[in-house]
Amino acid sequence: MPLVPTTINKIMWSIPNILCLIGSRHEDEWNGMTQSWVTQVAMEPVLVAVSIDATAVTNRLIKDGGSFSVNIWDRSNTRPFVKFSKPATKDGETLNGLPVREGVTGVPVFRDAIAYLECTVWETVACGTHDLFIGEVVDADIVNADVLGDVARMEDTRMKYGGVRRGGH
Ligand SMILES: Cc1cc2nc3c(=O)[nH]c(=O)nc-3n(C[C@H](O)[C@H](O)[C@H](O)COP(=O)(O)O)c2cc1C
Repeated sequence: MPLVPTTINKIMWSIPNILCLIGSRHEDEWNGMTQSWVTQVAMEPVLVAVSIDATAVTNRLIKDGGSFSVNIWDRSNTRPFVKFSKPATKDGETLNGLPVREGVTGVPVFRDAIAYLECTVWETVACGTHDLFIGEVVDADIVNADVLGDVARMEDTRMKYGGVRRGGH
């Protein structure tokens, strides 16, 4: 079968994905970014992989800073994902107006996340348009157990990510 872009898109978009915010930092530069490609890839150590566009600010900050946070979000509040699909504005202890704190690895952790993981980069795999950062989980907490079963997912928004390359991302 010839590869048909719309077919690839439909198949890729049919795979369920979380929506979360990735926190990254190098020195005084902090960022948060909307992310859907997140998955666990090992149990011992507990490794989590995030694949990040090679041109993203977050990509540079993770390479230079060596760590990242995965901030799990309540599905009833998907508005932040729109704002965090471009580089975030830091103002005091906030990113795009959302409160953050410095995690144990130095990266921003969103105070409004329902749970978070902090990871140090264990391995980086170049994947064409993206780099796959495999992170070892070094800190984690559940902030709001009541809604942990209701984490934000791609299907909660009208946004899409993935499939074949197109203008925009
Ligand atoms: C719904 C949605 C999901 C996204 N998922 C990813 C992803 O998994 N990986 C990625 O590299 N970019 C993803 N993006 C794109 C980034 O959020 C966007 O390119 C951002 O501008 C890059 O962030 P930065 O330059 O501020 O670091 C997604 C965007 C949207 C709207």
